[in-house]
Amino acid sequence: MKQVQILDRDFTISIPANKIQEQVERVAQEINRDLEGKNPIFMSVLNGSFMFTADLMKHITIPCEISFVKLASYQGVASTGQIKEVIGINEDLSDRTVVIVEDIVDTGLTMQRLLESVGTRMPKEIYIATLLLKPDKLQVELDVNYVAFEIPNDFIVGYGLDYEGYGRNLGDIYTVIE
Ligand code: IMP
Repeated sequence: MKQVQILDRDFTISIPANKIQEQVERVAQEINRDLEGKNPIFMSVLNGSFMFTADLMKHITIPCEISFVKLASYQGVASTGQIKEVIGINEDLSDRTVVIVEDIVDTGLTMQRLLESVGTRMPKEIYIATLLLKPDKLQVELDVNYVAFEIPNDFIVGYGLDYEGYGRNLGDIYTVIE
């Protein structure tokens, strides 16, 4: 079994690159079918979704635009500890079909924050496409429209996702060995 060490942790392969590509292509085809004629704008959330976005977009065949946003954490809101600020939305989203492209929806709090921020820009509709979803960790009600893989609660790295900043470059997805 393929294993990698990143900093102090060992990881074992859980989703090989060829399986990732199959599911990314499947998601792209669903989007092509559902959003035809809607001229969507894809909002890729950096850093984690850079690989997913690149592979996904190669299979999107309908006219579309793509943009990138980033989340900045800052301190100061007492109850939650950390609130994420969305930076880099420069496009006019009014009356547009927006597709948020994320690497992983875990508790869903980040996605909820993104939806709020994009929602204030008066889009016509917002879709969510995520590479990974941990359904058992979800804390908020979210309508996640496109999911490449549902996974268990374990911590994973690779294909854009990191452990302490490392591992994003791996082509396969790996699960931590406890
Ligand atoms: P949420 O707000 O709990 O849904 O978390 C979303 C963010 O947490 C993702 O965009 C990732 O950056 C990070 N994250 C959650 N689970 C994992 C994981 O298993 N590996 C790496 N990053 C993760």
